[in-house]
Amino acid sequence: MQSKNILITGGASGIGLAMVRKFASEGCHVFFIDTNHTEGTKLQIEEHEKGLSVKFLEGSIASFDEVQRLIQHIPGKLDVLINNAGISHIGKVENTSEADFDRLFQVNVKGMFNCIKAALPKLKENGGGSILNMCSVAATIGIPDRFAYSMTKGATLSMTLSVARDYVADGIRCNCLSPGRVHTPFVDGFLAKNYPGQEKEMFDKLAATQPIGRMGTPEEIAELAYFISSEAGGFITGSNFNIDGGFMGLKM
Ligand SMILES: NC(=O)c1ccc[n+]([C@@H]2O[C@H](COP(=O)([O-])OP(=O)(O)OC[C@H]3O[C@@H](n4cnc5c(N)ncnc54)[C@H](O)[C@@H]3O)[C@@H](O)[C@H]2O)c1
Repeated sequence: MQSKNILITGGASGIGLAMVRKFASEGCHVFFIDTNHTEGTKLQIEEHEKGLSVKFLEGSIASFDEVQRLIQHIPGKLDVLINNAGISHIGKVENTSEADFDRLFQVNVKGMFNCIKAALPKLKENGGGSILNMCSVAATIGIPDRFAYSMTKGATLSMTLSVARDYVADGIRCNCLSPGRVHTPFVDGFLAKNYPGQEKEMFDKLAATQPIGRMGTPEEIAELAYFISSEAGGFITGSNFNIDGGFMGLKM
């Protein structure tokens, strides 16, 4: 993976941040898109101090024009696109507003489409490459109170299969990862907002839903992302990988 160009969305936090660090530490040129100015700038500086090649592209994946503009900062071809940025929402149909519904789809579904569309010419210029989308176990199992979020992840799964089929002849592989609960600011923010004062109790409850008895770490997700995106994963396309401490496979 030495000197390969990698584009990661949502790289300023959680799983995306672990991916930025992993790919950069392997000698890749990493570009990451994020809306978080403070954390994005901080990460770029930290990686530069280690002598690694990381560039923060500040902006939102929700706008195709913006993604198209940001992607021009990548000189030449692109080897790997990782569509990781995503936002969550808690609620059933009755407490999901039209605005919530639109916001979730705008980022989690249209944002992913925007990045794939903008990246395809550079992946083709490269003679092929890898697209990896962040899905979730919520795409294929009913998780309580995650109506809009789960639908966006269902769309991610079908987008992955469709893109994998349409671009297989161009040498472009497309896969997705479906994590169970991973301990990131995504989870901490959810607990602080929805269970103030009961964060520890709820954290332990969420951790226990994985048969393995804990949440995943962002680094564990980044390791699998690296394997799939590298030549070692060259025979993999059109696949969805559960990485969930046994949540899907060991249902009781
Ligand atoms: N943490 C989990 O338990 C878990 C489980 C399954 C799937 N996932 C998925 O993994 C991905 C990453 O999750 P995380 O837990 O690391 O989240 P996180 O909230 O820690 O990080 C998400 C990053 O995406 C960025 N972002 C949000 N909207 C954006 C936009 N419009 N444009 C550009 N950047 C934007 C945020 O600024 C943030 O830096 C998401 O797609 C999420 O749905 C997470």
